[in-house]
Amino acid sequence: MSIGIIGAGAIGSAIARALARAGIDARIANRRGPASLAGLAAETGGRIRPVTVAEAAQSDLVFLAVNWSRLPDAVRGLGPWGGRIVIDTNNPIEAPAFRPFDLGGRSSSEIVAGLVPGARVVKAFNHLQPALLAGDPGAEGGRRVLFLAGDDAAAKGEVAQLVQRLGFAGIDLGALGEGGRLIQFPGGPLPSLNLVRFG
Ligand SMILES: NC(=O)c1ccc[n+]([C@@H]2O[C@H](COP(=O)([O-])OP(=O)(O)OC[C@H]3O[C@@H](n4cnc5c(N)ncnc54)[C@H](OP(=O)(O)O)[C@@H]3O)[C@@H](O)[C@H]2O)c1
Repeated sequence: MSIGIIGAGAIGSAIARALARAGIDARIANRRGPASLAGLAAETGGRIRPVTVAEAAQSDLVFLAVNWSRLPDAVRGLGPWGGRIVIDTNNPIEAPAFRPFDLGGRSSSEIVAGLVPGARVVKAFNHLQPALLAGDPGAEGGRRVLFLAGDDAAAKGEVAQLVQRLGFAGIDLGALGEGGRLIQFPGGPLPSLNLVRFG
């Protein structure tokens, strides 16, 4: 299964490092273009290949890791998504103001899903700080927890397998609407927790 990452900032590059560490190849893209990502490619021993946003979006599984206000621009024209998996790592808040965006009562992942029609959206990788995502998932003799939520069981299964390959303990919170709200930041009860699973 091919993996793409759109957004190569704090979270996108943390995911890239976690994949490379687990020996998994991926393509990564940002707004400025592949040349700006040469350092990350070198750091990951070539496992993470800089490409255009359009190329990254053609992957079977696409991480979306872009500032909330820029998401519509980032995904414009990238469809049809044809059932590809999109992992929504995004939170509806951003620097420098850190004022939550008004979502009109919808969950943030429902809004993201609306931007990528036809994609199978799984919310995950949004609730830990970048250093914890990129670092050793082994902690306290157990495995650091990553939550996931989504409506498509097969897509969620693929993401759960990837989470396991990265060395984290995946915990399925259910559907995008309900489970997604539990890990939504700000507002959900789970995002600020750094949990470890034993066994
Ligand atoms: N930082 C955290 O602690 C944290 C934790 C969990 C989740 N998140 C979420 O993860 C997402 C990314 O956050 P971040 O901290 O990684 O932000 P960031 O460091 O500011 O990086 C944002 C990335 O998005 C790219 N981008 C912006 N507009 C784009 C466009 N039109 N097309 C393609 N790429 C575009 C930027 O590319 P350029 O660099 O080329 O401009 C940059 O690589 C946000 O939704 C955030 O809420 C962040």
